[in-house]
Amino acid sequence: MAAEPLGDVLDASDRRQVGTSGKISLTLKIRRYNPELREDAWWDEFTVSMEPTDRLLDALHEVKWHQDGTLALRRSCAHGICGSDAIMVDGQNRLACKVLVKDVAPKCTIEPIRGLPVLKDLIVDMEPFFDGYRSVLPYLINDEGEPDRERFQSPEQRHRYDDTTKCILCACCTTSCPIFWGDEEYIGPAAIVAAHRFIYDSRDEGAKDRLKILSEKTGVFRCRTTFNCTEACPRGIHVTQAIQEVKRSILFDRF
Ligand code: SF4
Ligand code: SF4
Ligand code: FES
Repeated sequence: MAAEPLGDVLDASDRRQVGTSGKISLTLKIRRYNPELREDAWWDEFTVSMEPTDRLLDALHEVKWHQDGTLALRRSCAHGICGSDAIMVDGQNRLACKVLVKDVAPKCTIEPIRGLPVLKDLIVDMEPFFDGYRSVLPYLINDEGEPDRERFQSPEQRHRYDDTTKCILCACCTTSCPIFWGDEEYIGPAAIVAAHRFIYDSRDEGAKDRLKILSEKTGVFRCRTTFNCTEACPRGIHVTQAIQEVKRSILFDRF
């Protein structure tokens, strides 16, 4: 089958940006920070020529590999799975590998995610984020001993926590939360999602301990239900709904 011509997959506004080579120009305005050079952050601009269907991560690679090798960024899988390349793009948290160049051209602003200490350029210190994650006991707890065969679960029981199994710990939700920005004690939505995944797992016996942790002053009741986290999640997880379910369990299930 003949390949689909480029003109058929681009809309009119895309076609206006496409030059004769098929490539389009993208200017990246990037917030830089390097404590070894200076105390304050600054902005740099780079212009790259990319295919419209390249990813923003490809454009950042183009800058790093061909224009400024000192640009620091984190990434691994380049396919929306590892969660390591969360950045703020035009004010919204995104995974750089899931953003098409044609959707942000001709210019976009790139910053590190907020609420975590910046180490260099787009790289933040994720330890405070993972401290929150680790604090909710994000693993199966079951004291029955090792079974002879798999632990059975009905499709309905599995469905109960299906949504929160999709989390890739990218931190897009937690670092878009205004409560987290202003209060480093708040455990944050990603940790609550991780807890939710086990609290409602029929094979797990640790729900009581997790709900006790989440009922403390650093837990779910700091959430003000502003939905930023749900909008930011690149996996489409209903983050705020998960938080509400945990709140309800604490209030009404008498764990
Ligand atoms: S819903 Fe709660 S956790 Fe999510 S962004 Fe708003 S305050 Fe933060
Ligand atoms: S819930 Fe979504 S946004 Fe939050 S860490 Fe998991 S995948 Fe990322
Ligand atoms: S590089 Fe792994 S999710 Fe983007």
